[in-house]
Amino acid sequence: MSSSNLVLCYIMLTDSYKMSATSNYRFVRGNTLGKKKRRNRSSNSYYWLSWHLFTCEPAFFFFTVLFLVFFDCLVLVVMAVIKGPFLVFTLATAFAGFIGCAVSYDRPLARKDISMPQPKELSPTSPQQVHISAVGPDRMRISWITESSAPAIVEYGTSPVAYSESATGSTSSYDYLVYKSGEIHDVVIGPLNPNTVYYYRLSSDSTREFSLKTPPADFPIKFAVVGDLGQTGWTNTTLAHIGQSNYDMLLLPGDLSYADFLQPLWDSFGRLVEPLASQRPWMVTQGNHEVEKIPIVHSTPFTAYNARWHMPFEESGSNSNLYYSFDVSGVHVIMLGSYTDFDPDSDQFKWLQADLRKIDRRKTPWIVAIIHAPWYNSNSAHQGEPESDLMKESMEGLLYKAGVDIVFAGHVHAYERFTRVYNRKADDCGPVHITIGDGGNREGLASEYMDPMPEISMFREASFGHGQLEVLNATHAVWKWHRNDDDVSVVADTFWFRSLSSDPACKV
Ligand SMILES: *[C@@H]1O[C@H](CO)[C@@H](O)[C@H](O)[C@H]1NC(C)=O
Ligand SMILES: *[C@@H]1O[C@H](CO)[C@@H](O)[C@H](O)[C@H]1NC(C)=O
Ligand SMILES: [Fe+2]
Repeated sequence: MSSSNLVLCYIMLTDSYKMSATSNYRFVRGNTLGKKKRRNRSSNSYYWLSWHLFTCEPAFFFFTVLFLVFFDCLVLVVMAVIKGPFLVFTLATAFAGFIGCAVSYDRPLARKDISMPQPKELSPTSPQQVHISAVGPDRMRISWITESSAPAIVEYGTSPVAYSESATGSTSSYDYLVYKSGEIHDVVIGPLNPNTVYYYRLSSDSTREFSLKTPPADFPIKFAVVGDLGQTGWTNTTLAHIGQSNYDMLLLPGDLSYADFLQPLWDSFGRLVEPLASQRPWMVTQGNHEVEKIPIVHSTPFTAYNARWHMPFEESGSNSNLYYSFDVSGVHVIMLGSYTDFDPDSDQFKWLQADLRKIDRRKTPWIVAIIHAPWYNSNSAHQGEPESDLMKESMEGLLYKAGVDIVFAGHVHAYERFTRVYNRKADDCGPVHITIGDGGNREGLASEYMDPMPEISMFREASFGHGQLEVLNATHAVWKWHRNDDDVSVVADTFWFRSLSSDPACKV
């Protein structure tokens, strides 16, 4: 083999590999190739190639060697004899590359929705779809649904069955085309002690007792962070991993149920998350899948979301359930709305300005902001959307000046962590942007990345999973991304944060 030929082969091989990586994704997702194998750990084709070649992909190695030997000989013959049938050569190369990577490269397949029907033992007045959210420093909102009318009453106390306190709230319901929701109950309880387990029952139903733990008053606090959750088999195992994490509060950057207009799926989602969401506060913001607006027949957006996931916006001076903020254990959390107005004249913008002004860094040394559509993203999916680009243009300066430590986003069904960044450039006083849209929805993963990987992107991978942010004290926090690796939770990315408020170089 001549060395120039070898170089030519290598270039063509890597190019065909790139081409086939794209087609292969569809190939695998189409379930033509359902075999369970390891998946790539990076999006860079050249990296994949070397990873496959030099680690443990015998099939790829076999096909590559076969390809090199066979086609290198072929090209010699072809060039010598016929001269110029490069089309044939390229097609053959692409084919070999395609076979090579189709055999070696697999992504977890999307999984279908799992159905969570109403348990038979539930009576029409039994509480279901219970979830809780923090309201102010020492109160908790309890939300639940009953099929028929039942009192909006919560009885609670620090020991099981013996409830020393009770609170009443309100009940609502909504219509969506032919669907009519159950009775949605909403009761705020408290004042509650921090870091304390409370037992509670709902609508005077003694067949179901629930318990919750309030967040700690001070550090350390552990957040579970997961976006684009859905209700598939992947969601189920991601939730199981979160359940084992001993977290204090869950933060969800949008796209909850993927009901997508089919309202009973909201009920199914409520039942799926209840075991976790009834025990720890779930603080959520909306994604595009929450909009559910249909021209003429149902023109009001966010009907189901607002009715079912009432967040503490009133308490944070916001006039919309789509954006709000709260303090928890030394962290100021800002939930923004990517699918409502965000331009500098908007209510949301003015509210954000006022909210940032009120922050006392001695009380909350950390600031975390949450959006749905990422402002930084090197995945091929969701590039150039107004909710990403225009919202960033409008609000990035505000967050930067306020010294926001971390911005979490969802939307892209993959994981990506950027360095500290502002205005597209690395900046030691800017927030770290993290995309965590990999909860487990039925649309599957976004596995095509822009090439080359931008310098500001530190880690990216299209796998399902969730993140855990443990804020240890005023200066240190540790972030861990847990890949949902074929249903096993594996820490695949770890990052230590220093708060910007403790960095003298950043004037916050
Ligand atoms: C969901 O996960 C739990 C374990 O956490 C398991 O017992 C259950 O069977 C799973 N449900 C489905 C529908 O996969
Ligand atoms: C904060 O936590 C980090 C990591 O555990 C530790 O090194 C540091 O000394 C702590 N700082 C304070 C002020 O306790
Ligand atoms: Fe989304």
